[in-house]
Amino acid sequence: MPISLVIGASRGLGLELAKTLASDGYETFATVRSAGHTSLPSEVHTIEGVDLRNENAGELIVNGLKGKKLDLVIINAGVFTKETLDTPNFVDEVEMYKVVSIAPVFLAHHLWKANALSSPSKFILITTEGGSISLRTKEEGGGNYAHHGSKAAANMVGKLLSNDFYDKNITVVMIHPGFMRTDMTKDVGFDQFYDSGGAVEPSVAARSTIDFISTLTHKQTGTFWAPRGPGDIGEAERVLGKNLPTPLELPW
Ligand SMILES: NC(=O)c1ccc[n+]([C@@H]2O[C@H](COP(=O)([O-])OP(=O)(O)OC[C@H]3O[C@@H](n4cnc5c(N)ncnc54)[C@H](OP(=O)(O)O)[C@@H]3O)[C@@H](O)[C@H]2O)c1
Repeated sequence: MPISLVIGASRGLGLELAKTLASDGYETFATVRSAGHTSLPSEVHTIEGVDLRNENAGELIVNGLKGKKLDLVIINAGVFTKETLDTPNFVDEVEMYKVVSIAPVFLAHHLWKANALSSPSKFILITTEGGSISLRTKEEGGGNYAHHGSKAAANMVGKLLSNDFYDKNITVVMIHPGFMRTDMTKDVGFDQFYDSGGAVEPSVAARSTIDFISTLTHKQTGTFWAPRGPGDIGEAERVLGKNLPTPLELPW
């Protein structure tokens, strides 16, 4: 039985990734920040108290794995707080960078040092097309500096990890899972674009994400993809042209 780990699985996409992996036959570990999240199925091994703002998150995960070696790791946790040039928020920015772009370095470090990653295995960072510098245009506008900046930094971290892990046969890929109907998008007011932007339920995006991951080979390590294609990426056609394929490899 292959073994998977989803980091940040209390709700939204992470919860659905853990549920889908478990129903696909993976022995699945899933992390949450606080106890009492009952929506994870009982067969999922839940590791509680894992807050990516803390340096010990990786150690807690390693302890929770109880010596199991992982075939698939998905770092899913994310935070998105709105900002404009008039209202940047220092505290929120620090949190976004900590959770999205700093934590993955330490998670990878602890899992690697504990020999918890199988060879071969896959190490996936859920980032977003919003972390692509090339896909930002003057038509789309500015703002949301730390959301975009922390995800661009996470893409860079993933690229560097792919180099570190290349000879270990650990495939590192960054994924934009699609525009989803989750707390994250609702909380920043993007629910007004759900219908026009083709937003899907997180269970649908979990399915397409996991199906795409299953096709990945080590040749694709260090690349960035949208498994659901260009349909929900606002500036894809303007920047990349028409008739784009699905899955779509994204530019940095
Ligand atoms: N929704 C979209 O349209 C969309 C599009 C592109 C990419 N993404 C990416 O997909 C991922 C999942 O997004 P979502 O829409 O499912 O978001 P969500 O519903 O807001 O869920 C966010 C998840 O991250 C966890 N998390 C937040 N801060 C954490 C911390 N300090 N330590 C540990 N876990 C933490 C949350 O746990 P708690 O319950 O404890 O807060 C929750 O499980 C994110 O990386 C997001 O950027 C989403």
